[in-house]
Amino acid sequence: MKSYALKTFGCQMNKDDSERIAGLLAADGYLEVPELADADVIIFNTCCVRQTADDRAYGQLSALKQLKADRPELLIAIGGCLAQKDGEAILKTHPHVDVIFGTHNVAHLPALLAKAALSGAPACEVLEGTTEFAGDLPAERRHDWHAWLPITVGCDNFCSYCIVPQVRGREKSRTIDDLENAARALAAEGVEEITLLGQNVNSYGRDLFGKPAFTELLARISNVAGLKRIRFTTSHPKDLMAETIDLMAARDNLCPHIHLPLQAGSDRVLAMMRRRYTAAHYLGLARMIRERLPDVAITTDIMVGFPGETAEDFEQTLSVVEEVRFDLAYTFIYSPRPGTAAADYDDPVPKEEKSRWFSRLTEVQNQASLERHQELIGERFDVFVEGHSKKERNRLVGRTASNRLVHLDGPDEQIGRTVPVVFTEAFSWFLIGKGQQ
Ligand code: 5AD
Ligand code: SF4
Repeated sequence: MKSYALKTFGCQMNKDDSERIAGLLAADGYLEVPELADADVIIFNTCCVRQTADDRAYGQLSALKQLKADRPELLIAIGGCLAQKDGEAILKTHPHVDVIFGTHNVAHLPALLAKAALSGAPACEVLEGTTEFAGDLPAERRHDWHAWLPITVGCDNFCSYCIVPQVRGREKSRTIDDLENAARALAAEGVEEITLLGQNVNSYGRDLFGKPAFTELLARISNVAGLKRIRFTTSHPKDLMAETIDLMAARDNLCPHIHLPLQAGSDRVLAMMRRRYTAAHYLGLARMIRERLPDVAITTDIMVGFPGETAEDFEQTLSVVEEVRFDLAYTFIYSPRPGTAAADYDDPVPKEEKSRWFSRLTEVQNQASLERHQELIGERFDVFVEGHSKKERNRLVGRTASNRLVHLDGPDEQIGRTVPVVFTEAFSWFLIGKGQQ
């Protein structure tokens, strides 16, 4: 039996693609092994959203050179966003690579591996657009109880900093009927939790109906018997609608968590980013969400150091962060991506200044997350136990409906079950709780 090892970088969309890759390879008779060194085939599913993502993938790819020299029959395949962006050029710097497959070519991976093995020459396939949805491919899911369900692929927003439209193509929605059938089939297999995926879920259906139909889709999925937790990501502040929040308030299986990237709190920077909303609009949304969904968690992405951002712009970002008090925020320093509009903008702000802003933002946000979590100490929440902590193997980890990460002590039998928990300790990125009888 041939074996493979698969390494996934980047976002949830890549995690889903990786489950499809695993599904295809399983159907082709491959066995998955955890260690790269033990595998006949090594696959990297890559990200290129920031320069650090490129560097990480290329660094780890370079580290495979020796393995390939020791075992020339080893096949190395690189797919995903970085493969889509750099294509055959990867072979110039990394001639030990055997297969390059783009974001639209997941279904052909087994054929490309066979071709490379047979010919002894690299096989490269990077298509421009989507012809089939990877979401239609069989998946080898990481957990029996959870499934990703991509509702759209690609993105039409063209934020000026973002490479995604180039590497994932134009936004394309799957039909409501297809998605409802997929959700039904998953529930019949015992899946309890589904995460709907899209670069901007709120614009779902615009290409099919001329207007977004996300709320309608959500209502249909929420009616599928057996689905206990329905999540979705990512929301866009320009397209998130009050009716979606109202539906969430009305349905128990729609989880009270909204990931709503702010990016910046200055209207001037938001305009340069082509985000098409203002800080006031964002604040209005956050207020509305908190009013209508009592136990909601609002999480976000924020960038500092956008070209032309000033100290005053940065202060405005901080002030939005202080007002909203996000439950969690993923923070980044702007990274120019060649081929995007912002890559050509003047960027006079020194690196050190950007680093200072970044540290301050992280500090303010970590404090806000910590305080929000501290307010929950003594409260009782249902926690769905997902598995063991990576660091402390005898600790269990789980999530609340609002997606808060919880550590707890308990027997392994609790994995895959919902346990009532009282929170005892709070940190910026997670809570500690005690399971109740
Ligand atoms: N530089 C830094 N951060 C970026 N992101 C997207 N593009 C860039 C970039 N060029 C961040 C955004 C986005 C998250 C997934 O990554 O905050 O929401
Ligand atoms: Fe996901 Fe974007 Fe990274 Fe691709 S480039 S893996 S879409 S975050």
